[in-house]
Amino acid sequence: MPTPRSLTTAPHADFELEVVAGTWPTDISGEMVFSSPQRCTPMEYAIFDWGAICRLSLEPGTRGAAPGRFAWQSRSIQSPGKRLWDRLPEQFTTSGTGYQSVLGPANASNTAPLPWGGRLYTTWDAGRPIELHPGTLEFVAEVGHRDSWGGGSMPMGGVLPFLLSSAHPVADPDRDCMWSVKLDFVFEPTFGMRPAVVRYDAADGTQVRYWPLDGVVFGGSTHTVSQTRDWLILADSGNFKPDPAEMFGGDRELTIDHEVPVWLIRKEQLDGLPSGSPVAPITIMMAPPSGHFYGRWDDSDGISVVWEGMDLMDLALYLKPDDLDVHGRPIDPAAVGLYNMAMAPESIVEVLFDPDTGRAIERGVHREDWNFNLQLSAMDWSTEGMSRPTLHHVTYQGCRPGNISQRAAKLYEGRIDLDQLREETPGSLATFERGSMALKARWDYTDLGDHITSPTFAPRDCGTNASHSAYAGGEPGGHDGYVVQPVLSDDGFRVELFDAAAVGNGPIAVLRGTDRECVPLLLHSAWMPAHHDLVDAERLRFSDELSDEVMASVPEEFHGAIREVARECDELF
Ligand SMILES: [Fe+2]
Repeated sequence: MPTPRSLTTAPHADFELEVVAGTWPTDISGEMVFSSPQRCTPMEYAIFDWGAICRLSLEPGTRGAAPGRFAWQSRSIQSPGKRLWDRLPEQFTTSGTGYQSVLGPANASNTAPLPWGGRLYTTWDAGRPIELHPGTLEFVAEVGHRDSWGGGSMPMGGVLPFLLSSAHPVADPDRDCMWSVKLDFVFEPTFGMRPAVVRYDAADGTQVRYWPLDGVVFGGSTHTVSQTRDWLILADSGNFKPDPAEMFGGDRELTIDHEVPVWLIRKEQLDGLPSGSPVAPITIMMAPPSGHFYGRWDDSDGISVVWEGMDLMDLALYLKPDDLDVHGRPIDPAAVGLYNMAMAPESIVEVLFDPDTGRAIERGVHREDWNFNLQLSAMDWSTEGMSRPTLHHVTYQGCRPGNISQRAAKLYEGRIDLDQLREETPGSLATFERGSMALKARWDYTDLGDHITSPTFAPRDCGTNASHSAYAGGEPGGHDGYVVQPVLSDDGFRVELFDAAAVGNGPIAVLRGTDRECVPLLLHSAWMPAHHDLVDAERLRFSDELSDEVMASVPEEFHGAIREVARECDELF
């Protein structure tokens, strides 16, 4: 059985859920938000389509739900680019790398939600973070004027800038800023990407600052930015490599790396350094490549990181209509456009990066045959929880040979063990101990029709301790609270709630749509307290970027539509 067909066939819609098993606790609060690519266009690679934000309220009877029921809401992110696409869809073409247009590329903002204080952002690797209204979920603004990012990642015209960034910027509670990345294409001496650290201060309003990493050019992407109190941690994700052969219409030739560089930058190196000045990082090599890694905030005894390995998980490979799966069967048409799933079990590592010796010291590793498709995890994101993390909860989606193409298997011949890809295996929610990566608990999803997706941690009794930060529960760290596990299925979407300290006991409560509604592909999720109002702040307007030079880079015939979108967006805050 491949992944549920509803991943690509279910609509984005609002509905209500009800408790169908167990008892919903009264000491859970707040909301779970998700990013999701819509299906606006039949697109070769579905993860490049315009983004939606989805929200599940964890308190019954809120956000318009009937008493005792739970609201699910989904909103299209109506960025300037999406508004232009709505008006001028024929001006946008698609390829394996998403939308192209004379107006500029899309900022799909479809990958991850990022709550920050009372504000809500969504992110994408190929665009700036976008701020949404935390009450209505409507688009508010993009982060940082295009010029303050140092211009586009590649010279090109258009009113929509091409800015390669990170889908996982991180909020710094000490500095009240967001750390991200910008990548610039370079062609000399070889084709590659040059990364820069990006800092967005809430107080800066419309500007970001950036500092290129001195002497660094690489061939991958920077999906995650992580941090400790004193250090920023960047890495070549190594799982999504821009392939010039593919970009110019040929077959993909590049494969993912065996090991990747990790770059450490001391935050104080950037204090007072003018934007645009290079900064020298410390480089440490680490294996396997990873899309997601999370530093412990407290670095008094070292830079300790959960490194979620993506062994033989090549996110640049997607399923095509004429593909056969690894067993020679045609790919399910409903799976076309989804990514090629993991071709090996994946490692999770607790690693200490030592900037003095340049070594990566592994303190604990977990990798067993059932660890297929490790992609998404849940942790306590409060400052207290990140300072002293206790438990790390991981969703494994199981082995899905129906979603691995023969084409991929051929490209990775000699690196994959086909015997490991014979059978489908259940998805599992697993809990690991921080520090050792010892497996503490595991719950299996034996129905292979269940596709478990991005979990999140919801603290118990959030906000009841006046000495804690706003997002912290009674005992921060990841054990005192709930793991919320969404389950996508053609039988209807479910939300399963676990006691974070006892995931192995199974769910304590289950929600299901009152009409067994299905939900389409969801990417990352996050937990946040319920906020209803937009924080008062200075923000970038689309019209601020429409200089004469920018407008002159697109044909005159589209200027009317652009001005109309700019007027609409001027009214948003
Ligand atoms: Fe991600």
